Parts: sequence; structure tokens; C-alpha cells
Amino acid sequence: MTFNFLSAFLFALFLVVHAHPVSLIARDVAVPQILTPTAGDTWVIGDTQSVTWNVSSLPAQITNPVGQILLRKGELTQNVTLAGNFSIRAGNVSFIVPSVTPDDDYSIVLFGDSGNFSPEFSIVSANVTVA
Ligand SMILES: *[C@@H]1O[C@H](CO)[C@@H](O)[C@H](O)[C@H]1NC(C)=O
Ligand SMILES: *[C@@H]1O[C@H](CO)[C@@H](O)[C@H](O)[C@H]1NC(C)=O
Ligand SMILES: *[C@@H]1O[C@H](CO)[C@@H](O)[C@H](O)[C@H]1NC(C)=O
Ligand SMILES: *[C@@H]1O[C@H](CO)[C@@H](O)[C@H](O)[C@H]1NC(C)=O
Ligand SMILES: *[C@@H]1O[C@H](CO)[C@@H](O)[C@H](O)[C@H]1NC(C)=O
Repeated sequence: MTFNFLSAFLFALFLVVHAHPVSLIARDVAVPQILTPTAGDTWVIGDTQSVTWNVSSLPAQITNPVGQILLRKGELTQNVTLAGNFSIRAGNVSFIVPSVTPDDDYSIVLFGDSGNFSPEFSIVSANVTVA
């Protein structure tokens, strides 16, 4: 009785330990390439902007298919959510550019499975004329 219980326990433990690599193989980490914004783009505060990414090579199973986009300035991810709760499979999401300090070292981080950074772009005030 005790032996059977122990065997069952060890067998269950064996299954748990060995099931893990299988689930990692079945569900791949999706690392979609960000297509826009591109380096040097300009976003105007208050305008509708979109972020697009390549969905053509996404794995069939995505561990976290719910996307979120945060703003990053220099090396620091800001506490500014540009968009959230969208599907990573959509390939794009639109939002209104929030009122942040205008500068030329902004980028975005696309979260799903991974956190992918875009190149740096500028955010300007609506009344600034872009040359
Ligand atoms: C999207 O990814 C596919 C597969 O990796 C690639 O062939 C294609 O060129 C990419 N599209 C763009 C616009 O980068
Ligand atoms: C981030 O912003 C939200 C509201 O926009 C706020 O509730 C939260 O406390 C902030 N978190 C940090 C770490 O500043
Ligand atoms: C996220 O989106 C799903 C489906 O589009 C919706 O059912 C859910 O309420 C949304 N959650 C939040 C927190 O907005
Ligand atoms: C945005 O995504 C939708 C589907 O979610 C697609 O129909 C549309 O063509 C996409 N637009 C761009 C500009 O990628
Ligand atoms: C843009 O408008 C703000 C107030 O709306 C003003 O303070 C700022 O000086 C303006 N900038 C330019 C370059 O005109």
C-alpha cells in the first residue's frame, strides 16, 4: 500500500518534470518584428497613430497572445500604456498619441510573449511644424 502510493507519487512527479519540455516545444515564444514606427518617424500629440508588426511567421500556439504597447524614452520604459488588450495576431493597433514631453528619443515596447523595442522616433506638439 505504502509502496504503491510512493510509486504513484514518483510516477506523477516524473510526469510533471518530463511534461514541461513538451509544453515548451508546443507553445513557442512569439517575437514579432515591429514594422512601424521606423527610425526618425514623427508622432504628433493628439493624432491617431498606429504600430504595426509582422505576423506572417507567428507560431500556431502563442503563450501570451494578448498584446500591450508601452512608451519608452531613451533606455527607460515609461508608465504610459499606448494600447492594451489587443491580439498579437492582429498585426496593428491604433491609438491617440498622449501628451508627453516632446523629444526625439522615444520608442515603443510591444509586449506579448516578449518585449520588442522599436527604433527611436520623435514625439512633437501639434503646433510644431515638421521641416
Ligand atoms: C514578414 O516576415 C516574413 C517571414 O519571416 C518575411 O518573409 C517578410 O519579408 C516579412 N515582411 C516584412 C514586411 O518585413
Ligand atoms: C502607472 O500609472 C497608473 C495610472 O496611469 C498608476 O495607477 C500607477 O500607480 C502607475 N505606476 C507607477 C509604477 O508609477
Ligand atoms: C479584453 O478584450 C476582451 C475581448 O476583446 C474583452 O472580453 C475583455 O473584457 C477585455 N478586457 C479588458 C480589461 O479590457
Ligand atoms: C490591421 O489589422 C487588421 C486586422 O486586425 C487588418 O485587416 C488590416 O489590414 C491591418 N492594417 C494594417 C495597416 O496593417
Ligand atoms: C505650442 O503650443 C503651446 C501651448 O498650446 C505653447 O506653449 C508652445 O509655445 C507652442 N509651441 C510652438 C513651437 O509654437
